[in-house]
Amino acid sequence: MAIYYKNNMFYLHTKNSTYQMKVERDFLLHVYYGPYVGETDMSYLIKNIDRGFAGNPDGITEKGFSLETQPLEYPAYGTGDFKNDCLKVVYADGSHVTDLKYVSYDIKEGKYALEGLPAMYQGEEDVQTLEIVLKDEYKNLEVVLYYGVFENLDIITRACKIINKGKEKVNVLRAYSMCLDFTYKDMDFIHFYGRHAMERTMERTPLLHGMQSVGSRRGFSSHQHNPFVILCKQDATEESGWCYGASFVYSGNFAAEAEVTQVDGTRFTMGIHDAQFNFELQQGEAFVTPEVLLSFSPVGLGQLSRNYHKAIRYNLCRGKYKTARRPILINNWEATYFDFNTEKLLDIAKEAKNLGIEMLVMDDGWFGKRDDDVSGLGDWFVNEQKLGGKLKDLVDGVNEIGLKFGIWFEPEMISEDSDLYRAHPDWALQIPGRAPTRGRQQLVLDFSREDVRSCIFNQMCEILESANIEYVKWDANRHLTDVWSAMVSSERQGEIFHRYILGLYDFLEKITQRFPDILFEGCSGGGGRFDAGMMYYHPQIWCSDDTDAIERLEIQYGTSFAYPISTVGSHVSVCPNHQTGRTVSMKTRGVVAMSGTFGYELDVTKMSEEDKQMVREQIEDFKKYYDLIQNGDYYRLTDDGRKSPFVAWQFVSQDKKEALVNVVVLRARANAMLHIVHIKGLDPEKLYSIEETGEKLSGRALMSGGYPIPIMENDYQAWQIHLVVCE
Ligand code: GLA
Repeated sequence: MAIYYKNNMFYLHTKNSTYQMKVERDFLLHVYYGPYVGETDMSYLIKNIDRGFAGNPDGITEKGFSLETQPLEYPAYGTGDFKNDCLKVVYADGSHVTDLKYVSYDIKEGKYALEGLPAMYQGEEDVQTLEIVLKDEYKNLEVVLYYGVFENLDIITRACKIINKGKEKVNVLRAYSMCLDFTYKDMDFIHFYGRHAMERTMERTPLLHGMQSVGSRRGFSSHQHNPFVILCKQDATEESGWCYGASFVYSGNFAAEAEVTQVDGTRFTMGIHDAQFNFELQQGEAFVTPEVLLSFSPVGLGQLSRNYHKAIRYNLCRGKYKTARRPILINNWEATYFDFNTEKLLDIAKEAKNLGIEMLVMDDGWFGKRDDDVSGLGDWFVNEQKLGGKLKDLVDGVNEIGLKFGIWFEPEMISEDSDLYRAHPDWALQIPGRAPTRGRQQLVLDFSREDVRSCIFNQMCEILESANIEYVKWDANRHLTDVWSAMVSSERQGEIFHRYILGLYDFLEKITQRFPDILFEGCSGGGGRFDAGMMYYHPQIWCSDDTDAIERLEIQYGTSFAYPISTVGSHVSVCPNHQTGRTVSMKTRGVVAMSGTFGYELDVTKMSEEDKQMVREQIEDFKKYYDLIQNGDYYRLTDDGRKSPFVAWQFVSQDKKEALVNVVVLRARANAMLHIVHIKGLDPEKLYSIEETGEKLSGRALMSGGYPIPIMENDYQAWQIHLVVCE
């Protein structure tokens, strides 16, 4: 049994971890999360020590029992736990105190679902759900804590529901999804920061007393911080040491906070950011928090990542393209930007077909009046004048050439220079009478409103039904400001950030259900909303607007900590690169883009014959390695190049019979020293043949001694070896 209750203790077990809670004097205490300990009751770790200025709950005279020092499973504000809390509400009388006591529990087979929110589902796994009810008796406020235990995946999911069972209204000011209290502080905080076109750079810092936090108040999960954080022991490496991951299944504002306490413990919390957040609950109403995916690895960061890769790939992503091979696409954005017509696109399609590419994606600029980025958003009808014909003619033409067809939308946005804005200026998020802030010269539609969503939905459906469209790129190119909606009262404006995301999810659910055969790729100026929430609807997301292969090494490295290869949108683009001006060989660009969904984003009609031949070979390689890359286990062999002279990563098939090692050497050196790459994840007992050289070496040798990388004569050279077990 993955979950059971015995002697006031809750036990949750996965293959490699145990999670324990205890009901003590009616409080729900967090006892333990760490390596599997079987039935051992770990509550001996909790000591009641009298600390100065630590108050005692009513009815408890033992000075050592204080909420300030007890590890709490779901801390609420106001009763003497001065550390970071998960729940803060203000009641009708203006009071802010919530005193949560344990009421009951229920264990269920299968995985709970969260209405209107993305969440992991059971799939092929054995899953159990634990629900624990806590309550503030005085105000009749109930909290239901949800735990989904995926034993085989080493994942425990958490979420909660806050229900107002009292007669008076309650205003929720903070409702985080989870808290973890650790008895120690000697951990590192690993997070993934960045900016537009440079997302998810890994940073690792030791925890210090006080608060270490990352988050977003931009309305989207953001380029700047990713809603995925790791706490690990300071000696943890890729292959060893304890690591705890927390991935937030949510695409809006978030906070991930680690607080080292006065007694050298650590409290880690995650949830919707409380900036401009309040949610009114009338009697009987409930607020449901988004889900957090927790995972524990006793054997380092590599295994932690592989846990998330499997969980997200098979129990969060959905639809036909969760497993079906995605077409190798060519996107016209970097080839033409806004300057294209049917003829140009058909020229690209013909050449692409010759090279083995399988789908043409028409990016921004095909609709409304849109020749640059200042107009047209919101007018989702075809600009036939620009295309020089009907969309259906273009799509049929592309299909006749032998390619599938995909199209770009930015459904959440509106240009002031659009018919939609002229008809409905109040549909944009803005405050009446106050000049709004523009981003990329555009405003954001109020997606908390059903009428706004359904107008855009209908426009989109009309386009998608008008021709044989098999792919949609869903973009969103600015963050939220002027967050105010005409639809709710002044007291409820703090709900709009969250209602926007709920509206977005509602839209995505409807559109993906209506068009189950369309492949959806998410995007937000590249990876500005690259989060587990979006992956429930979009099985792949454009990873970054930076297509430079060398920069991508860093971005894709950071991305790999939480997200599977199948979600990472990655293309080969032209050189000199449009973002950095760097020139990198076609081979290197291909090797890097192949560790993603793989496609092209350049004008193939202008390519040299040599490059074209290379592209044909790359496409053959990609097809050959597809299964290994997409379904194999992923290993980071080096860091992202900020310290190592080369960047290496690897895929190993589940049966360990095949592996693909990828290396990019960053700098050629005179009289160069030999670099050796240490291969991982092989079967030590098996003999592997190296396809490229014909050498035969044991898995043990390749993992212990490594394999020498040929000396490279230019910067940024890539090298791959394919290892196959000798039968
Ligand atoms: C965003 C995307 C790009 C491209 C442009 C079009 O920046 O990330 O890939 O689609 O918008 O405007």
